[in-house]
Amino acid sequence: MNSEADIAERLSTDGVMLRNAWYYALPGNALRRRTTAHVTMLGEPVLLGRDSEGRVFALLDTCPHRGTLLSRGTFDGKEVECPYHGWRFTTDGRCTAIPSQTSSQRPQPSDIHAQSYRVSETQGNIWVFIGDASVTPPPVPVVPAIGERFGLHLSAIFDCNIDLAVSGLMDPAHGAFVHRSALWRTKKSIHEKHKAFSPVNLNGNLGWRMDRHRASSNSRAYRLFLGGAPETEITYTLPSVRIEHATTGRYEYCGLTACTPINATRTMVHHVMYWNVPGGALLKPLGYMVARRFLEQDRLAVMDMVDGQKFNPSTMLIRDADMQTRWYFRLKKEWLAAEAEGRARANPLESMTLTWRS
Ligand code: FES
Ligand SMILES: [Fe+2]
Repeated sequence: MNSEADIAERLSTDGVMLRNAWYYALPGNALRRRTTAHVTMLGEPVLLGRDSEGRVFALLDTCPHRGTLLSRGTFDGKEVECPYHGWRFTTDGRCTAIPSQTSSQRPQPSDIHAQSYRVSETQGNIWVFIGDASVTPPPVPVVPAIGERFGLHLSAIFDCNIDLAVSGLMDPAHGAFVHRSALWRTKKSIHEKHKAFSPVNLNGNLGWRMDRHRASSNSRAYRLFLGGAPETEITYTLPSVRIEHATTGRYEYCGLTACTPINATRTMVHHVMYWNVPGGALLKPLGYMVARRFLEQDRLAVMDMVDGQKFNPSTMLIRDADMQTRWYFRLKKEWLAAEAEGRARANPLESMTLTWRS
């Protein structure tokens, strides 16, 4: 078990970006056939593309020749052509043409490779594995049950490192203040909660789960959406994936939140919602409006924290409301230790019930 001092130490090295993990890149419907897009992930330039058959691929978005962004070039559905000198690359990074070379000169196309990434399109989401070629990726994060019905996606850039973005999104005690609204939650609705948590290890993806429980009486959003008192379960796995699953038996809702560091000081927050309520398509505009508003409120709350933390205040993580943030840092520390020692990750968390008022 890590001591409190260990955790404080981990907190003081905020924002380490964990490699060798799947990160959310784009919703699949943002990438049409025969097009490419640029995404910056963990400081790496990534070209995402969809070939003429519909398959998604990802390449390092800098030309092996002089570093030009390949995504600024053209793509015919089979090969990417650099806009500067026309070097061409297949979707797995093989070079097929260097127009300026005679047949006796080196290099020839077969000498050149653009770096490719492992990529997966699952349940409407495109994930990119950012890590070492020698590492076998774990399974891609999936939402349960209704994952084939992609609902809607929204995203926002948080101007802060991954740790502040994640801790802001998993915080259980800010609802009545940050998301206060006559419709959803008021200060008066704050009451004592007891929630059971257990550690999870999904093929090496470490995290914890808020065990399935009756949704709190102040979660009116759920009631409106699913038309009854649902049971919910929330699973968080490192580096940054939170999956919420609510069900009334007949109707289900899943929320997938995934944070991708753009670089050490900016984080892209993706939120995807799935549901199977009849007439659910009609709920899209409302769902979008509400989710957009929540995400923006969260973003502004985190920005206020970032502005305060620029003055290097001493801060604290209290029990039990901040316990999940502690767990996040504890697991992050374990991730880094396992990597440094070349061993499998082991989940240091234990099952427990947390108590707070919200
Ligand atoms: S920089 Fe890409 S072909 Fe020269
Ligand atoms: Fe929030």
